[in-house]
Amino acid sequence: MKNIAVIGAGTMGNGIAHTFAQCGYNVNLIDISQAAIDRGMATISKNLDRMVAKEKISEADKAETLGNITTYTSLKDGVSNIDLVVEAATENLDLKLKIFKDLDELCPANAILATNTSSISITQIAAVTSRPEKVIGMHFMNPVPIMKLVEIIRGYNTTDEVTNTIMEMSRNLKKIPTEVNDYPGFVANRILMPMLNESIETLYNGVAGVQEIDTVMKLGMAHPMGPLQLADFIGLDVCLSILNVMYDGFKNPKYAPCPLLVNMVAAGKLGVKSGEGFYDYSESRKAEKVAKMFA
Ligand SMILES: NC(=O)c1ccc[n+]([C@@H]2O[C@H](COP(=O)([O-])OP(=O)(O)OC[C@H]3O[C@@H](n4cnc5c(N)ncnc54)[C@H](O)[C@@H]3O)[C@@H](O)[C@H]2O)c1
Repeated sequence: MKNIAVIGAGTMGNGIAHTFAQCGYNVNLIDISQAAIDRGMATISKNLDRMVAKEKISEADKAETLGNITTYTSLKDGVSNIDLVVEAATENLDLKLKIFKDLDELCPANAILATNTSSISITQIAAVTSRPEKVIGMHFMNPVPIMKLVEIIRGYNTTDEVTNTIMEMSRNLKKIPTEVNDYPGFVANRILMPMLNESIETLYNGVAGVQEIDTVMKLGMAHPMGPLQLADFIGLDVCLSILNVMYDGFKNPKYAPCPLLVNMVAAGKLGVKSGEGFYDYSESRKAEKVAKMFA
């Protein structure tokens, strides 16, 4: 397995492309938006610069990594000759079903089709293809080049052989894969999202301010980042989509998204990526804020 296609050049897609390319894989990075590709490639370059500055990699490693990535705006051109697809497009069920229908038609018959979805059913995605045994969840964490975990989600029909191949490949990426079953939110988000939602509810109820809530969880629970800051970093639209998938999937009101989260997404306040969420990331302060998140 040498040739990888990554669908979506956003927050996760550019990190996934970066990680595969740095480990020597040929990566086709595909997005419907040229602007998203340009932003994604600029982010990869900036993140590699940071690694060079820290002497984790050399300038030659940076050039080789960038050289391993080819970009496409056409799905057809980008997947004709690949062994594995990792889909990291927007978290939307209808969009993912359409992409997987197309991938099934366009990819070589033996290619494995993985999705980085945070919560959508792998089994449901697999069902629109003619190869459900080769569809699997490969859930990377954000920021991908830094975070060790990959949650590997077996759909109802995913075979042992495909699961083992993806577990092994994740180890080749110097990640630690963990296998889980296919239920809404899997493990990571089933536990994380109710905590983020409760933090937003705490703010909505006027119990404390943004800084106070984050300070309590950072200093009191030794979390590296406060929950509201983490929600901004993940993307408030992504958090809302995941909560809705769990709410619909379990039919349990404990997953109902807080009205404040719903309102903020409707108002376009999506967190770091839109410049404003619970915190302000306006251009002049964005780099400084993001740097602090990683500090
Ligand atoms: N943000 C996180 O922290 C995080 C963590 C783990 C998993 N995920 C999952 O990763 C996926 C991507 O999330 P993100 O945060 O990177 O989103 P994002 O909004 O940053 O990027 C999504 C990208 O997909 C592109 N896209 C949309 N439709 C497309 C299509 N038909 N073909 C190709 N590209 C298309 C968009 O142009 C955009 O660049 C989602 O499924 C999300 O649930 C996100």
